[in-house]
Amino acid sequence: QAASQLDRRGRRLRDLRISVIDRCNFRCPYCMPEDQYPRDHEFLGKAERLRFEEIERLARVFAGLGVHKLRLTGGEPLLRRELPVLVRTLARIPGIDDVALTTNGSLLAAHVDALREAGLGRITISLDTLDPGTFRAMSGGRGDVADVLAAIVAAERAGFAPLKINCVVMRGTNDGQVLDLLEHFRGSGHIVRLIEYMDVGTCNDWRRDLVVPSAELRARIAARWPLHELDPNYGGEVAQRWAFADGAGEIGFISSVSEPFCGDCSRARLSADGRLYTCLFAGTGCDLRTPLRTGADDATLAGLVGAVWNARDDRYSEARSEATLARRDRVEMYSIGG
Ligand code: GTP
Ligand code: 5AD
Ligand code: SF4
Ligand code: SF4
Repeated sequence: QAASQLDRRGRRLRDLRISVIDRCNFRCPYCMPEDQYPRDHEFLGKAERLRFEEIERLARVFAGLGVHKLRLTGGEPLLRRELPVLVRTLARIPGIDDVALTTNGSLLAAHVDALREAGLGRITISLDTLDPGTFRAMSGGRGDVADVLAAIVAAERAGFAPLKINCVVMRGTNDGQVLDLLEHFRGSGHIVRLIEYMDVGTCNDWRRDLVVPSAELRARIAARWPLHELDPNYGGEVAQRWAFADGAGEIGFISSVSEPFCGDCSRARLSADGRLYTCLFAGTGCDLRTPLRTGADDATLAGLVGAVWNARDDRYSEARSEATLARRDRVEMYSIGG
């Protein structure tokens, strides 16, 4: 029933990442560093954010164009009130077979049962280190690792296991703690994914020497626990999957800097104010909120989205260069949720 959309590189539209809010209670150095980040920055006001009915309507339009996976992101998505209400409506959309959430975990424990009951399928939790001091620093002095660990237990109890645990690795900050993190989750069934620090947005002062290439990290890990590679679960998966040879489970590497994966990138991103971005490194998005609020019908909206996707030629990570790094017009991570 769903018409599938191809872009100029033959890539199909399959996933939609929906940012429900641009605010966050953390200030991670790789995303919204406290010192770089302008203190007078104005986050979106309530009227600027899409209402749940508007998000649902757009999600239906995307489903009609071939999207079958939705992922809710932020900022921190759990700062948006009544999130389970949105989950419930999204999970019922015909053609949507996967509704997932990416969260920093700090507020999750209190909401996890309601999210489960509403039909959320999967949760990914960000956790960069187990060390309380480093965790505090990597959340901009705002987070407590104990809250995230408690959320992981609560999510297990609510039936969300296996979880994905995202760890952004920064050289000299938390790379020395990766083995401890892996040791903690070995045998738990949860999948730790080690993410190369990316040059997203404009406020994180990214430098290539702060990236630990996955090949280097993998060698360090394999010296302790031998690994073997696994096949992808699905085409366009961002993480390369590896397994502990002793059967203690799976880990992932997301290597957008050292081994870009634009070739089969199938993701679109919707910001909380209803802009459509076809790349994590895009400049301006396409405004869907205005047509939505001025009476466009579903066919018109579908035509707009389809045209944007068909014209898409993004391959930022493959084309990264001094020139692209100098660009200051890139969208911020917290406004499209990764
Ligand atoms: P599933 O495969 O559905 O489990 O989720 P995911 O891995 O796509 O989502 P998640 O939010 O956990 O993203 C993991 C990391 O990969 C984040 O740092 C994202 O910013 C990054 N990422 C996800 N999609 C892309 C992409 O298309 N391009 C790049 N460069 N990075 C991406
Ligand atoms: N590089 C890599 N990953 C990042 N994330 C946020 N900013 C960056 C960055 N600069 C991660 C978050 C979260 C996911 C959605 O994106 O930690 O796990
Ligand atoms: Fe950190 Fe995610 Fe918040 Fe960005 S949106 S500051 S990555 S918790
Ligand atoms: Fe997709 Fe852009 Fe990431 Fe490449 S850089 S994988 S095109 S989102």
